[in-house]
Amino acid sequence: MRAQLERDFERFRGGLPPDFPAYVREAYRIDLSARYLGVPLPHPIGKGSGQLSLNASQLDVDVEAGLAFVVLKTVIAEDAGGGQSMAAWAIHETHMTVEQRGGRGWTVTWKGRGWDRSLHDYLQLVRYGRTLNMLVVPSVKYHLPRLDEPFRDAEYAHTTRTLAEAWGEPPLLLEVDFSPTLAGDPLASDREQILRWIREVPQRIRAAANVRIALKLMNARFDDAFQVAMVETARDADALVVFNRLFDAERGVAYGGWDLSDRNLRVLDRTQRRGLAGTGNVGSGRMILEYARRGCESVQLHTLFQLPLDQFPATAGSRTQRALHLLVFDPKNGLIAGMLDGGYRRFLDVTEHAFRKD
Ligand SMILES: Cc1cc2nc3c(=O)[nH]c(=O)nc-3n(C[C@H](O)[C@H](O)[C@H](O)COP(=O)(O)O)c2cc1C
Repeated sequence: MRAQLERDFERFRGGLPPDFPAYVREAYRIDLSARYLGVPLPHPIGKGSGQLSLNASQLDVDVEAGLAFVVLKTVIAEDAGGGQSMAAWAIHETHMTVEQRGGRGWTVTWKGRGWDRSLHDYLQLVRYGRTLNMLVVPSVKYHLPRLDEPFRDAEYAHTTRTLAEAWGEPPLLLEVDFSPTLAGDPLASDREQILRWIREVPQRIRAAANVRIALKLMNARFDDAFQVAMVETARDADALVVFNRLFDAERGVAYGGWDLSDRNLRVLDRTQRRGLAGTGNVGSGRMILEYARRGCESVQLHTLFQLPLDQFPATAGSRTQRALHLLVFDPKNGLIAGMLDGGYRRFLDVTEHAFRKD
């Protein structure tokens, strides 16, 4: 099988087989099936919310490449009159720099925040996503009040209801972003305030629609114990995306790379939670398995899909295709290689490992 993996890696440089999870099942007897928000997926690799899920053509490329799922760029919630208490997050910024951060892996530097077009445009994209042969999930940033303030339920209600309508058959699947730039905001300088959001936001959303909620937790500017406390507080969420990028207060930017995966994995070592999705510095199949061993049922990538083309061993295809080739078939660090090493036949058995008592 090792020899075959070497051969397949070479053979697929120009393009993956049409249904690569089926091919992997047949050729290697490995089942890559995974899960996000309770939905079965053909494999664990999806795209995290961001600048790479802003329009229909980006989604088309990802379907063609065989990606398992995509989370749309985060939209800022609004009430029926278009009022947005989190409007400061809906800023337009196109300039992005992909750079190495102090030898600690690739990171994308960018000063923008959430979706900067209308909610109407966002709903169109959600509707389009529902017609595709790939799971496409919306992401929202809702009003986050100070401790002494009430939640603006009108924003929760209007945004959630219109999304549920655009989605169609319930339950609506929804990701909620607490964003790394928020970690740098004075709003997030109070632990009790953050824990209140995590506790209460799911209820506010559920009051408006039949919904399954994934909370994408931020890396707050507190210690690991606080990250664990956030996970434990998020009992009412159906899934957790762990954890969004780190925040560099000096430069005023969010960042990723190895600092991010080191922190995320270290915190996940201290938690036991079902329904996790990993995010942060996934650049190899081995890293997918690191997240899986700590309970993640799937992973969401962003940075890898933005690397220069010469960083990929594949010689043709979209970045998504080239990334999948690297993540799955790399004979040393790919998902198949890692699963063969660990003697795993099913990806979700790796995840299950996190919950064994031995
Ligand atoms: C330019 C950029 C924009 C992003 N925008 C969002 C966003 O709007 N909502 C969100 O939940 N995450 C956002 N993210 C976070 C990514 O979805 C992902 O979770 C994070 O970058 C960690 O994965 P990575 O190391 O593979 O990039 C963004 C990331 C980048 C680099």
